[in-house]
Amino acid sequence: QTKPSSPEEEEESFTPSTLPKREAWLTACAISQFQGCWLGPEVSKSVALVQAHFQPRPDDIILATYPKSGTTWLKALAFAIANRSRHAVGGGDDDHPLLTHLPHALVANLEFPLRHHHSVTELETLPSPRLLCTHLPEQLLPSGVSGLGCRIVYLCREPKDVLVSMWHYMNKVYPDSFTEFDRAFELFCEGVSIYGPVWDHYLGYWKRSVAEPNRVLFLKYDDMMADPANHVRMLAEFIRAPFTPEEESSGMVEDIVKLCSFQNLKKLPVNSSGVTDPVGGLVIENSVFFRTAKVGDWENHMTEEMAEKLDSVIEEKLGGSGLTF
Ligand code: A3P
Repeated sequence: QTKPSSPEEEEESFTPSTLPKREAWLTACAISQFQGCWLGPEVSKSVALVQAHFQPRPDDIILATYPKSGTTWLKALAFAIANRSRHAVGGGDDDHPLLTHLPHALVANLEFPLRHHHSVTELETLPSPRLLCTHLPEQLLPSGVSGLGCRIVYLCREPKDVLVSMWHYMNKVYPDSFTEFDRAFELFCEGVSIYGPVWDHYLGYWKRSVAEPNRVLFLKYDDMMADPANHVRMLAEFIRAPFTPEEESSGMVEDIVKLCSFQNLKKLPVNSSGVTDPVGGLVIENSVFFRTAKVGDWENHMTEEMAEKLDSVIEEKLGGSGLTF
């Protein structure tokens, strides 16, 4: 058999249908376990291509999240921080890109372009330093990412809130494959969820952050909600663009927090009434990315028994790692 030579040929030759499958949720098709991670068939194809063809650069910054953990917020913050010399924040921010673009449109996703633009080479056209994002677990990232020392910001969220957020999102985006909350809960506890198991996703990046704290910054959504300003400072330091004393005294940190706040982004016309097609062939309303942003919203969806069960699964899976919620 001839070895495929281009990403397009490889896409044709990859057969995710041979992978073990579980029922769909958060996708229209069944999900399969690809290298230990539950993915939809299209993403499995993309991942294989990204692993083979993506060319990391040492100054890449990769924003990594498990879905529904605050990706939209992290992208907005990182974009505003990294581009503040080009796009003023504060007094003169009337034409800031975040006012007219869904944050997802401003940061390229590692594994989506192959479905959307049909070529990994699209990422090659971006100028350095690139701000990229991914939902891939750490073990699925192309090996050069770690080898070249690319920095990663990982944002995670309390798992019960992730499940609730994911359930709402999934049923809005895929109303035809509506899943009852109880079923979604069972699958999530089994580790069967897109990009899951969720605990493996958390652990992969957590262990990296412990081993290489200068390369992997590990953040938690609830902490960021409690103190966004200091997280903005931390992010700026990490991407090697710390705030100058002048920027600090002009209130830039607070301006970035305000620009990227849930209340501000949710009400913008682009986010309240715009649509997007982030993965190709699936147009969704931008408003689905802005629901309630409430810490502890799980209390409105789970019985005490369910909460205890998921807590104990997570505790057992994360046991001994030092990562707790
Ligand atoms: P809820 O569904 O609990 O409201 P992701 O961006 O990874 O898809 O995660 C979506 C979750 O982040 C949603 O949570 C959404 O409301 C919340 N979110 C979106 N924008 C936010 C922001 N600017 N600040 C805080 N949370 C935000």
